[in-house]
Amino acid sequence: MMGGSFGVSQPATAAALRRRSVIAVLHLTLLLPTVGVSGQSVGSPLDCHKTCVCASNIVSCSKMNLTNVPLALPKYTAVLDLSFNSITRLRAEWTPDHLSRLHSLLLSNNGLTFLSSEAFIYVTKLRYLDLSSNGLRILDEFIFEPLEHLEVLLLYNNHISQIDRTAFSGLDRLQRLYLSQNSITRFPLELVKERSRLETLKLLDVSSNRIKSLPLYELQVLPAWIKNGLYFHNNSLSCSCDLYDMVARWYLKELSSATDFKSSHTCVIPGQRKEKMAILDLDKAYLNCSEVKTLDEEAYLEQFLVLDCDTRQRDMVKRWALPGNIPLSPANKTAVMRSDGNLQIGPLRLEDSGVYTCYATSDSLNETLYVTVVVFNATTAGGLENLKTAYTTLVACLVSIVMVLIYLYLTPCRCATCPGQGLEKSDARESLHSSTVSLSQAHEETPQEKAEGGGFPYRHMAFRDPKDQMEQNGRLNPIGEEDEEWQGDSSERRRSDAESVSSVCSDTPMVV
Ligand SMILES: *[C@@H]1O[C@H](CO)[C@@H](O)[C@H](O)[C@H]1NC(C)=O
Ligand SMILES: *[C@@H]1O[C@H](CO)[C@@H](O)[C@H](O)[C@H]1NC(C)=O
Ligand SMILES: *[C@@H]1O[C@H](CO)[C@@H](O)[C@H](O)[C@H]1NC(C)=O
Ligand SMILES: *[C@@H]1O[C@H](CO)[C@@H](O)[C@H](O)[C@H]1NC(C)=O
Ligand SMILES: *[C@@H]1O[C@H](CO)[C@@H](O)[C@H](O)[C@H]1NC(C)=O
Ligand SMILES: *[C@@H]1O[C@H](CO)[C@@H](O)[C@H](O)[C@H]1NC(C)=O
Repeated sequence: MMGGSFGVSQPATAAALRRRSVIAVLHLTLLLPTVGVSGQSVGSPLDCHKTCVCASNIVSCSKMNLTNVPLALPKYTAVLDLSFNSITRLRAEWTPDHLSRLHSLLLSNNGLTFLSSEAFIYVTKLRYLDLSSNGLRILDEFIFEPLEHLEVLLLYNNHISQIDRTAFSGLDRLQRLYLSQNSITRFPLELVKERSRLETLKLLDVSSNRIKSLPLYELQVLPAWIKNGLYFHNNSLSCSCDLYDMVARWYLKELSSATDFKSSHTCVIPGQRKEKMAILDLDKAYLNCSEVKTLDEEAYLEQFLVLDCDTRQRDMVKRWALPGNIPLSPANKTAVMRSDGNLQIGPLRLEDSGVYTCYATSDSLNETLYVTVVVFNATTAGGLENLKTAYTTLVACLVSIVMVLIYLYLTPCRCATCPGQGLEKSDARESLHSSTVSLSQAHEETPQEKAEGGGFPYRHMAFRDPKDQMEQNGRLNPIGEEDEEWQGDSSERRRSDAESVSSVCSDTPMVV
């Protein structure tokens, strides 16, 4: 009811305003006893003099000990800053009106533990939502779904251990998602994996959580522009040479996620002592992992190769140059640039060996990638390999034929005695069969596979533009700033008792 009486107060004269505020105070005094009992579930009306600063479309009520969102916010509010208060619950009715111009909502440092599933239905134009440094534990299904315009979502430094699989669905324009310093135990691959990923997401920060293993193969095949913003340092990953291999390759490619936090990329040595170790040192000590070096693209005569121009930024304009820095001409039939920016060369001749260069440009960044191609004389190495593969395929084929015969002629008798065995037999036959198929396929795919993800063929040189760094580290709460915050302020990092309770829960698998 107070919301109504104040909604119309905007154009009123000063005198009328004063009268109304007297009424409001009356309302307040009447309300106070009940409010005290009910835990102050209703906020007081917006006061642009005492509790908030209102500057045209900005309403700032930071550090005012508010326990509720002020009521009757002007409809034209674009920025609402409620950080550093004590708003522990964000209910559905926190704004009864549509705030259709609100693009930034700041609720960090409030001790928030509850988000209504309808908390955001009246603020669908939000582009920036800060829920960091609160006490959130669970992200429910479809919780952010109304926020189809949201670009930045800050959830770091909460106690999140459970994320519903659908929690981030509907965030079609989300670019940056900060989930660091929570209690997440599973890497949310769904957010970046092809087909299910949030299409515009270019930064996902799950650093400083409790993730023990990463889906290494799936991460390795992602395009560089996703990996560049995929921060996963300071988790409790267990050490392995595969992990070393991946991080070392990201480091060689100068991906920000690997280079910016080099010293925080640690893993835990399996065993009793749970010793921590720098991932990039795994080749030198302990595991003796084989060192990662930049790989050349190797191929044989008459084969085709696809050279990937895998840039760290999305949607760049790409241009290729042939060995000797000869610009690629559209008339060239051997080397053709495909619509995805990759270069297909072949059928290969010995003289196609050399360094191919991809120049990628965009407004904020220029990148140059080099791919060294080595073409072998097929009659030496290639011929042998082809023969070997053909032989293996032949043997596998024969074996499967024999297995089919065994299945056909021997199983009926066994089936009569034991029905379970017949089933097992057919399973074995199937898996053998599929392995022969995949063997021959794998061979055919070799050149392409090599180009599209298996190896990292680049000697990578990139010209980083200071402008780009500024944009990335600009006002939209960059990763650097966030890290400073949790490195600098140790009191904030201290875990409360409540948190240690959540550590018990955190072993339950995270539903993403
Ligand atoms: C908020 O509460 C604290 C402690 O009760 C007090 O010191 C501080 O002055 C209050 N701030 C405001 C703006 O009322
Ligand atoms: C690493 O993560 C733990 C908790 O997961 C946190 O307490 C610590 O501050 C983090 N360290 C760094 C250097 O970020
Ligand atoms: C690693 O190499 C060192 C010396 O080369 C050797 O002493 C050590 O046993 C190796 N460790 C493992 C796990 O293979
Ligand atoms: C076409 O591309 C191939 C691939 O590297 C190169 O060897 C050849 O010289 C090019 N031909 C012309 C006419 O540019
Ligand atoms: C990228 O290179 C082009 C010339 O190739 C230059 O005009 C442009 O300024 C460069 N952009 C950046 C961000 O360095
Ligand atoms: C490939 O190697 C064979 C044997 O070493 C040689 O006779 C042949 O000329 C080579 N082919 C080319 C194209 O160099």
